[in-house]
Amino acid sequence: MAEVTLLIHDLAAAVTPVGTGPLRGREFGALRVHSPASVAIAGDRIFAVGQPAEILREIPSGRDYESVDGRGKVALPGLVDCHTHPAFLGDRAAEFGLRSSGATYEEIHASGGGIRSTVAATRAGGERDLRSSVERHLGWMLEHGTTTAEAKSGYGLDRETELKSLRAIEEAGRSSPVDVVPTFLGAHTVPPEFDSAAEYVEFVIHEVLPEAAPLARFADVFLERGSFEAPEARRYLEACREYGLALRFHADQFSERGAIPLALELGACSVDHLEATKDEGALLLAKSDVAAVLLPACGLFLDLPLPPARLLADEGAIVALATDFNPGSSYCESLPLVMNLACTRLGFSPAEGLCACTANAAHVLGAEDVGRLSPGYKADVLLLDAPDWRHLVYHLGGDRFAARIKSGRVL
Ligand code: NIG
Ligand code: FE
Repeated sequence: MAEVTLLIHDLAAAVTPVGTGPLRGREFGALRVHSPASVAIAGDRIFAVGQPAEILREIPSGRDYESVDGRGKVALPGLVDCHTHPAFLGDRAAEFGLRSSGATYEEIHASGGGIRSTVAATRAGGERDLRSSVERHLGWMLEHGTTTAEAKSGYGLDRETELKSLRAIEEAGRSSPVDVVPTFLGAHTVPPEFDSAAEYVEFVIHEVLPEAAPLARFADVFLERGSFEAPEARRYLEACREYGLALRFHADQFSERGAIPLALELGACSVDHLEATKDEGALLLAKSDVAAVLLPACGLFLDLPLPPARLLADEGAIVALATDFNPGSSYCESLPLVMNLACTRLGFSPAEGLCACTANAAHVLGAEDVGRLSPGYKADVLLLDAPDWRHLVYHLGGDRFAARIKSGRVL
């Protein structure tokens, strides 16, 4: 029998998505609420979750383990942020000011600012600076309950800075308690030294991808006017797939340009954004195994139209939510805030929000052993200092954790 190392006892409740794998259709938002509850942890894994008296019976007596008093608190699985861009230097505060006085994100991008200004700042810094920046951003995420995060490159767009970004992500993932899943976003936009997207994509495939691929699990592309069109996205992603990377899309953010059919054809893991997706595309995605990742903090930050969130969920899509943390379109590291926006703006219930930031986000990342409080799952546990788990979503910007437990260790 596994040795129990930590017991969180007498909780008001322990809450988890049901089952295994992604929850979609009628199962989206299905939670199991144990109340009252204790959670027993053995090493870095959940050993048992259930009624306090039952859990005590399951633990061999006389053994030494750490105890955490859970009275008045609620245990939840650590949150999973499946779409973030933490590897950058500089900021876009001035651009935020411009946008607040009427300039649009796309206009700023078209005039050479936006992503390209962060690329210039990131290229100018050293690897140590970049690593500290990723560490700092992961720390912010952890404060808001994220224990697993995807992290994209994409502000280098040259060989040296893309590789530097992926190494910084790897090193920061090793030093931070947050588990990090790296993504090569070599096709974020076309850098200023290239005249055409097609020419840049050939450069990335031949000069960057061979060394970037071993440092990443996913490849991502921004399929949008002003960045890459479908033929270039296809060329880039097919090459990435040959190097063993799984595929993601930034798409349908401002305009629909064939991303969903292409994602289905290429067997991508997800299409992210979807603010411009019309019913036909939403239905196609909903009937497929390609996840729909919604980014409502980005939608709020840029004042975008709302994505067809309810249609996707009701028609059975695998729906995940993420922060899209980045300096330009979503300077927001809080998944509780994202869940609140999903409830107030996208028509989700708190339970659907939680499911989309735990089990379903974990599925997008292929991290099937996180996102639930069930035996065998990684012991990533949040103790919410509130009598009802829904306070996580309801308290706007006020997520109050009494403790964060990562891989069985109280932080
Ligand atoms: O997900 N849309 C493309 N990429 C990011 C924004 C990057 C930036 O503005 O720096 C996004 O919104
Ligand atoms: Fe993004």
